[in-house]
Amino acid sequence: MELKNLDVFKLEDEVWIANRAIGIPAYDFKFENLFACRRPYELPKGEQLICRIGAPDDYSAVYSEFLDIGFQLINNVQEHDRASQLHEWYPLIKQYTPKSMWYEEIPNVKEVEEEFDYPVFIKGTRQTAKHDKSLCVAHNRQECEEILKRYKSNPILHWQKLVCREFVPLQPVEAPQTYKVSPSFEFRSFWYRQELVGVGHYWSEFVEYDWSPEQKVEALNVARKVVESIKVPFVAIDLALTQDNRWIVIECNDAQESGYAGVSPIQLWKNIIQCN
Ligand SMILES: Nc1ncnc2c1ncn2[C@@H]1O[C@H](COP(=O)(O)OP(=O)(O)O)[C@@H](O)[C@H]1O
Ligand SMILES: [Mg+2]
Repeated sequence: MELKNLDVFKLEDEVWIANRAIGIPAYDFKFENLFACRRPYELPKGEQLICRIGAPDDYSAVYSEFLDIGFQLINNVQEHDRASQLHEWYPLIKQYTPKSMWYEEIPNVKEVEEEFDYPVFIKGTRQTAKHDKSLCVAHNRQECEEILKRYKSNPILHWQKLVCREFVPLQPVEAPQTYKVSPSFEFRSFWYRQELVGVGHYWSEFVEYDWSPEQKVEALNVARKVVESIKVPFVAIDLALTQDNRWIVIECNDAQESGYAGVSPIQLWKNIIQCN
């Protein structure tokens, strides 16, 4: 049973939300402090709902549980998969994102080297292991072997299909170095029914940075093309500026599962209410 301890309410009488805090400050948001949240005695039938309950292991199970209580999640199961699995979104937008290959079985080093030069970026079709760079950037054969070996036993990675991506040097931003991937000039954008509803700097937990109006226009033009191609009702698109000054897509995600990063949640939800 995935839907325990949920708070289901209608935000400003416009948008149904199911909320459950997951204990991550960049994700959780207390709606009732700032918005009118109506909790009806009787639930409606067949209305759309956005869930903010983290990333469920089994989205299709969650989708059917919501159907049972009268709601359709904003993204259906196909749309969810298209937004959150690289092997689903990549073919639709490959001109905007680093070259990628995915493997049914964990490949050996030779197979990786046939397609990629070092460094190579390695992740699951859905995510990295908490941005741990020793598990996602291989600078040479030895590191690649080590990552492929560790991949099999890592609890976040082993159940995902493995993906290799061309490593594209990104514009760095100044931040303290940790075991995580070094922060670059990256932004997260949220799109609701093809409208931009929020955008902010991605590494907001570590460092402040901002873009110029021209950079913003250029980056959002790329994101808009991607949104039009993947056609997912509520989607987050992450963008980065490369060292040779191009905007690329780092990844797409079902926005129900995305942390706010540098996006103001108040403004985001106000915009969504307005789009409705
Ligand atoms: N192909 C790549 N080349 C260079 N850096 C990358 C590449 N892909 C991702 N990164 C860097 O690694 C970070 C984490 O990668 P990402 O694919 O977003 O993983 P996750 O899904 O876990 O967030 C990105 O924010 C970016 O800084
Ligand atoms: Mg990411």
